[in-house]
Amino acid sequence: LIVPIILAGGKGTRLWPMSRSQRPKQFLALTGDFSLFQLTLQRLADPERYDKPIVVTNADYRFLVAEQAQEIGVELAEVVLEPIARNTAPAIAAASLIAARDGARLVHVLASDHNILVDSAYLTAVDTAVAAAKSGRLATFGITPTAPATGFGYIEGGDTQTSGALAVKRFVEKPDEAKAQEMIASGNYYWNSGMFLFDSAVFLSECGTLAPDVLAAAEASVAAAHKDLDFMRLGETEFAESPDISVDYAIFEKTALASVVPSPISWSDLGAWDAVWKESPADASGNVTKGPVHVFDSRNSFALSEGAHVVINGLDDAVVIASEDAVYVGKLSDAQAVGTVVKHLAKLP
Ligand code: GDD
Ligand code: MG
Repeated sequence: LIVPIILAGGKGTRLWPMSRSQRPKQFLALTGDFSLFQLTLQRLADPERYDKPIVVTNADYRFLVAEQAQEIGVELAEVVLEPIARNTAPAIAAASLIAARDGARLVHVLASDHNILVDSAYLTAVDTAVAAAKSGRLATFGITPTAPATGFGYIEGGDTQTSGALAVKRFVEKPDEAKAQEMIASGNYYWNSGMFLFDSAVFLSECGTLAPDVLAAAEASVAAAHKDLDFMRLGETEFAESPDISVDYAIFEKTALASVVPSPISWSDLGAWDAVWKESPADASGNVTKGPVHVFDSRNSFALSEGAHVVINGLDDAVVIASEDAVYVGKLSDAQAVGTVVKHLAKLP
């Protein structure tokens, strides 16, 4: 059985003001009745394939994780709590150590901010990744790029291996737009889906070579961990010693062991409001509305309200998000800018 490791500790700033530091996007129901975290758990429901998941999250989100899992009747193997955010490399290292300690070999690392359809293409991709992982490779899932997006990792595929996966020639995390354009034009490049599948022992050994500080902090923090209710709190000072780095920069840009499984799957990173708009049913004019919202004489706009009545009149390409205590108005086509705006807001007195 594969042990899922779910990363649920991100802040999701580009979906402000719905995504807040106390309730980030993975815990919001952005596309339907279930939160992205719950949808992630539901993708793992096959007991023939998956063991109970390990969730790694920030200590602040522990009750959101526990309540949302319970709400859909999913039992978790472990909820591992980080005292402080250090990005995904130490989170994955700590969870891999815990999985390995409990006897697990194969782990499937999943982000909790994606919309993915489990269909036969998806299951075939997972099977290929399992075969690659069993042959000692760190498997990634490659999505065919549709635009020179700068928020993704780019993977150049090489020779086909016996598992059916391709060797990774190059992994470039978050290139600038010119570089992204160049890579897409040269062909054979994929977006990194943000999921990984590997043998925990192979990953940990590679982490020891490529990011020894990350592994040392993860090991020390797991050794110093203690139970708090049903949660597992990692050692605070030990975990804080880790560099703040994502697994993409720490491991996947550097390793020679990566493989990519070309994955023709229905996949969307719900990173910003334009992605949520694209993933939601629209009216004949391309408008998406959620909550008490009315749109007149407008095209391709997105409006969401948690309570206040919102009216958009005569605006195209608008995004209006009215949460309980804050309102954002901007251009839908400039949805990435929300992250920068929020950074400025955080600096205001
Ligand atoms: N536990 C924990 N701790 N989880 C974290 C932390 C952390 O400090 N930081 C982020 N996460 C979680 C997020 O909640 C999300 O589910 C996942 O890890 C990925 O983090 P993001 O911050 O959303 O990464 P990204 O979207 O910028 O980039 C990654 O995903 C892209 C695809 O969506 C990279 O892997 C890219 O290469 C990839 O293309
Ligand atoms: Mg993401």
